Amino acid sequence: MPLITVLILSLLGLVTANCQCGYQLTINNSSTPSIFTDLIETDFLHLTNISKDTDWRRQEFPVTAAAGRGPYGMNFTIQNVISNPILNATNWTGPGEFGGDPGLQLIVDSGIPENGYVQVAEMDSAREDMLWGTYRTAMKLSLVPGTCSAFFWEIDMEFLSSQFIPENNTYPVNLVLQSEQSVRAGYNAAATGNYVVANLPFDPTDGFHEYRIDFVPGNVLYYADGYLLAKMNTTAVPTSPGHMILTQWSNGNPLWSFGPPTSEATITVSYVKAYFNSSDTVRQKDWALRCTDSSAPGAICMIPDQLGPPDPSTNVSSGNSSASTYFFSNEKNMTVNQTIYHKNGITGINELNAYSSSLLTLMLLSSLVAILL
Ligand SMILES: *[C@@H]1O[C@H](CO)[C@@H](O)[C@H](O)[C@H]1NC(C)=O
Ligand SMILES: *[C@@H]1O[C@H](CO)[C@@H](O)[C@H](O)[C@H]1NC(C)=O
Ligand SMILES: *[C@@H]1O[C@H](CO)[C@@H](O)[C@H](O)[C@H]1NC(C)=O
Ligand SMILES: *[C@@H]1O[C@H](CO)[C@@H](O)[C@H](O)[C@H]1NC(C)=O
Ligand SMILES: *[C@@H]1O[C@H](CO)[C@@H](O)[C@H](O)[C@H]1NC(C)=O
Ligand SMILES: *[C@@H]1O[C@H](CO)[C@@H](O)[C@H](O)[C@H]1NC(C)=O
Ligand SMILES: *[C@@H]1O[C@H](CO)[C@@H](O)[C@H](O)[C@H]1NC(C)=O
Ligand SMILES: *[C@@H]1O[C@H](CO)[C@@H](O)[C@H](O)[C@H]1NC(C)=O
Ligand SMILES: *[C@@H]1O[C@H](CO)[C@@H](O)[C@H](O)[C@H]1NC(C)=O
Ligand SMILES: *[C@@H]1O[C@H](CO)[C@@H](O)[C@H](O)[C@H]1NC(C)=O
Ligand SMILES: *[C@@H]1O[C@H](CO)[C@@H](O)[C@H](O)[C@H]1NC(C)=O
Ligand SMILES: *[C@@H]1O[C@H](CO)[C@@H](O)[C@H](O)[C@H]1NC(C)=O
Repeated sequence: MPLITVLILSLLGLVTANCQCGYQLTINNSSTPSIFTDLIETDFLHLTNISKDTDWRRQEFPVTAAAGRGPYGMNFTIQNVISNPILNATNWTGPGEFGGDPGLQLIVDSGIPENGYVQVAEMDSAREDMLWGTYRTAMKLSLVPGTCSAFFWEIDMEFLSSQFIPENNTYPVNLVLQSEQSVRAGYNAAATGNYVVANLPFDPTDGFHEYRIDFVPGNVLYYADGYLLAKMNTTAVPTSPGHMILTQWSNGNPLWSFGPPTSEATITVSYVKAYFNSSDTVRQKDWALRCTDSSAPGAICMIPDQLGPPDPSTNVSSGNSSASTYFFSNEKNMTVNQTIYHKNGITGINELNAYSSSLLTLMLLSSLVAILL
């Protein structure tokens, strides 16, 4: 290979960001992997203040008892969504700043509410353009009976603490295809179709575990710590974009959430990782602009599987932690042109400029070569 070609290639290589064409995952052992163009990653173990993270919106709205179809109303309040980052910000283990499990807390208050409204918690992603993707969160659930904890995006993983039976090691999860509206309306998911109850292969209250939904046209797969819980292949699989929701609520409905809990119920979230395609034409255009050659080395990055619990309480003494999981956004150059709060890659929005300046360098070099020849 002529020296000048090597020089040109290495110049290009230096400015080519990784993952510019997307993040790849093989879903359902398909012969062709799925590629997702966008990502949102949030490390709640190290996020100091949720009110500052523009990727997330703590929810504030009341639901009347009648609208919620329960004996009680619910008040979704930002006071019940609290950051409790790891005290020692340089490591992945140890207690939170306010003691207890580190991470983002979603709280349901205890007791019969005087005003008829149970104080509950919900946080939504700011982006609402999320379509096909793999959606993941690590959470430690509460053993206090009488709440419903959920991670969803229309497609839903719901945990009813009243269904947890430690005595016989039974920890069900309700896997549901239903709309956010029907959840807020307190509908009993069991009454809808497209509903599977699976047993978790672990105690979800003993530590942090990853819950995951893979979603491509016509197909949904549910996982826990990389263990396949269920697959759904029905016409009920949504086809429209949505947003992510993390919530813990209770309205006393004896068919679903039960409660309100007799003591405060806290669930803790350590991360959310979402790799998805955007329904937003601006984001689609951004992808087309940055992905000039999907066969270039590093243009498509593999999304790793989380196999096993990502738990900050493990391995404190051995000096490492299973909570230190992989984040593309912790690498220098793998989230270029993404929209994640405070982390869009070291070359960030200037990547295209960097590319143009390298083209300029190339042109200068070529003219130099031309002159020399
Ligand atoms: C993919 O294939 C492996 C090996 O046969 C199997 O264990 C796994 O459950 C399959 N995954 C899905 C999602 O069906
Ligand atoms: C996501 O979008 C990219 C770019 O348009 C496309 O190549 C890819 O096939 C899409 N992924 C899925 C699962 O549809
Ligand atoms: C988080 O930031 C908000 C807005 O700046 C501030 O009002 C609040 O006190 C902060 N909370 C903590 C725990 O630092
Ligand atoms: C909801 O919570 C907010 C903030 O704590 C409070 O000001 C409001 O009175 C509550 N509303 C109800 C109906 O409980
Ligand atoms: C935080 O942890 C690091 C090791 O990860 C240690 O060197 C440092 O002293 C700790 N800081 C505090 C305040 O304990
Ligand atoms: C666990 O307890 C529940 C409720 O008592 C019962 O329905 C279920 O059969 C038990 N499961 C096992 C494996 O014993
Ligand atoms: C089931 O999945 C296949 C792709 O694996 C898809 O073509 C088909 O439409 C799906 N079926 C339904 C009923 O959505
Ligand atoms: C997964 O693959 C199997 C075999 O290719 C197919 O029958 C099924 O519809 C696919 N999708 C789901 C969600 O199971
Ligand atoms: C993490 O920080 C805590 C508190 O400072 C410290 O006790 C612990 O040893 C640190 N762990 C590691 C693995 O560095
Ligand atoms: C804890 O650390 C040991 C040694 O570093 C390792 O073998 C083990 O797999 C770790 N366990 C977890 C749960 O990360
Ligand atoms: C991206 O950064 C990693 C280190 O974080 C480095 O190994 C890799 O070579 C870089 N890739 C490019 C294309 O700059
Ligand atoms: C992505 O790149 C486009 C130009 O191609 C730019 O207009 C847009 O602001 C960038 N977005 C982010 C989040 O960096």
